[in-house]
Amino acid sequence: MAQASSSSPVGLVLEPDAIRSRVAELGARITRDYAGRAPILVGVLKGSVMFLADLVRRIDLPVGVDFMAITSYGEGGHSGVVRIVKDLSSSIEDEDVILVEDIIDTGLTVTYLLSNLHARKPRSLEVCALLDKSVRRIIEVPIKYKGFDIPDEFVIGYGLDHQNRYRNLRSIIGVKDLDALAEDADALVAPYA
Ligand code: IMP
Ligand code: MG
Repeated sequence: MAQASSSSPVGLVLEPDAIRSRVAELGARITRDYAGRAPILVGVLKGSVMFLADLVRRIDLPVGVDFMAITSYGEGGHSGVVRIVKDLSSSIEDEDVILVEDIIDTGLTVTYLLSNLHARKPRSLEVCALLDKSVRRIIEVPIKYKGFDIPDEFVIGYGLDHQNRYRNLRSIIGVKDLDALAEDADALVAPYA
């Protein structure tokens, strides 16, 4: 993973090629692991949309796709108190389910989602997360399929947002200083659009 100079407000950078090849590897692993089965990939809106869209095209199985949308309450959305604002459109009972997340930070959100999905009696339930900010973990999460370990930086792009912006950046960039984003967001992100 590339790193901008230390004076820059930009930290880690994951460029489209790096994301693409890692997503292909994850898709190949899922294809092998679920051979003969038809897993349902459940994307968590909105951050996982780009990842899920690229991932399913790297899985050579008859996959199903469904979505949930949630809102988090509390400080910075990290209270772990989650409300489902859009539920799955079909039952997952007896299905092989893969929960697809953009990023696992404290782990509270995915823990809530796993217990919610588990109660619906899927045949199996695994987590696939593009990014793992494990230094921030409050509760341990079993991540079967992981894209990248990242340091404690706020990341935007490739689905990840800051105040619902920057999801359309083709790279993922770490912002060490959110004030810099507020001051001149366009200058900061222009090289990564
Ligand atoms: P957790 O409950 O702390 O694991 O938070 C997970 C959710 O917080 C993710 O699904 C994201 O929506 C959001 N999130 C956490 N870290 C970041 C980040 O660095 N950039 C953008 N969103 C983030
Ligand atoms: Mg999210």
